[in-house]
Amino acid sequence: MPERTSWVPVAPDCDWSLQNLPYGIFSTKEDSNPRVGVAIGDSIVDLAALQDAGLLSGQLLGGATCFRQASARGGPTLNAFMQLGLPVWEETRGILTRLLASEEGALRDSSAKRRSCLVAQRDATMHIPAQIPNYTDFNASREHASAVGTMFRGPENALQPNWLHLPIGYHGRASSIVCSGTPVRRPWGQVRAPGADTPLWQPSAAVDFELEMGFFIGPANVFGAPLSLEKANDAIFGYVLVNDWSARDLQAWEYVPLGPFTSKNWATSISPWVVSSAALAPFRVAAPHQSPMPPAYLRSSPEELYNYGIELEVDIVTSRQVAGGERAVADAVTRTRMDTLYWTPAQMAAHHTVSGCLLLPGDLLASGTISSEGPLGAGCLLEATRNGKQRLPLPNTGASRAWLEDGDTVVMRGHCQGDGYRVGFGECRAKLLPALDIACL
Ligand SMILES: *[C@@H]1O[C@H](CO)[C@@H](O)[C@H](O)[C@H]1NC(C)=O
Ligand SMILES: *[C@@H]1O[C@H](CO)[C@@H](O)[C@H](O)[C@H]1NC(C)=O
Repeated sequence: MPERTSWVPVAPDCDWSLQNLPYGIFSTKEDSNPRVGVAIGDSIVDLAALQDAGLLSGQLLGGATCFRQASARGGPTLNAFMQLGLPVWEETRGILTRLLASEEGALRDSSAKRRSCLVAQRDATMHIPAQIPNYTDFNASREHASAVGTMFRGPENALQPNWLHLPIGYHGRASSIVCSGTPVRRPWGQVRAPGADTPLWQPSAAVDFELEMGFFIGPANVFGAPLSLEKANDAIFGYVLVNDWSARDLQAWEYVPLGPFTSKNWATSISPWVVSSAALAPFRVAAPHQSPMPPAYLRSSPEELYNYGIELEVDIVTSRQVAGGERAVADAVTRTRMDTLYWTPAQMAAHHTVSGCLLLPGDLLASGTISSEGPLGAGCLLEATRNGKQRLPLPNTGASRAWLEDGDTVVMRGHCQGDGYRVGFGECRAKLLPALDIACL
């Protein structure tokens, strides 16, 4: 049994425990305005309604408008709340934890307030949690980088000379980030067949997923001034699952010399619930020993260098013809953990700003593919199929994959296992649609 329980029923394997309380943006059929909510059990607590009911005020939060502030996208997003920073996040979490705890009657005992503040998750549509100003993707998993490097350059040069000295990253495309549930479309692009002189323009034939963890930044640095590693942990608001869709054939032809471009800018999917750094705190795991020792701005007291013990999984869901119609069949393709990452999120954020680059509240940074040792440890098909050369069997479906096929749905999940409770992320799910017909281009 967990130490603290909620009066809202929460099954032991439910992602949305009292210990979690993730933030998201939802709407309902009755009220199509997107609004800020917190997940618990099968329900969502509407934070603006909670304020109206007089149940969400604090010294710092006061009458804050952050839960109803409209963004350029229309309804509110989490940006205004993210912008307020750690003391307000802590106060809000404290209020919500007390209000939802078993012994607290203020909301539990008022059916009118429960009716106005609680929404069933099954009646809600989730939206992208933030208006993301910029998106940066890293390459922080040593297992992944070594496996891919070995494949293309051999075991002697598996890691590029810079890899162990700094977290490698590139500036991604924020406008293409979509919420779980949004289908994505196989991209067109330039592909050069092995041995060919000239490239062809065609739909990608090598669409891949990449399992990553993303993190949202709150108030961080000012323009021109680096963010210290000590401050970087406190600047991270929370975490989501990320599928960094990648077209490997486009990538192979275009990436020299400036890195991935159209092979990755067409879609990135994220899970809708942002799990706060505070909820993940009990699951901190010390970062692996870093050798050579990184420079001072990436070094800190050992307790500041951590990842989280998040168990991660990817399934590919395909539809199979059965008597009387089609049935969805899931096959496990990846089982890995976030705490296998070499670089920590705080190191990625600190390195991002070492030049004085400004991070903005709502910016999304992602870890890069997370792979680990062991069966199903590969966080993408590139690794699992050795660049498409060894097809990956999908035993439940009776099929196999070199790359994703049209109609495949990629489902990512993650959770931390506590004593009798979970802090989970729900799903990041998206279906791959066929490429646009050439007549539409
Ligand atoms: C980052 O976001 C800002 C504000 O939305 C935008 O003006 C800028 O071009 C973006 N930079 C990159 C590298 O995407
Ligand atoms: C990640 O790092 C490895 C090792 O340096 C490299 O081979 C690989 O291409 C990198 N991935 C990307 C997307 O740049």
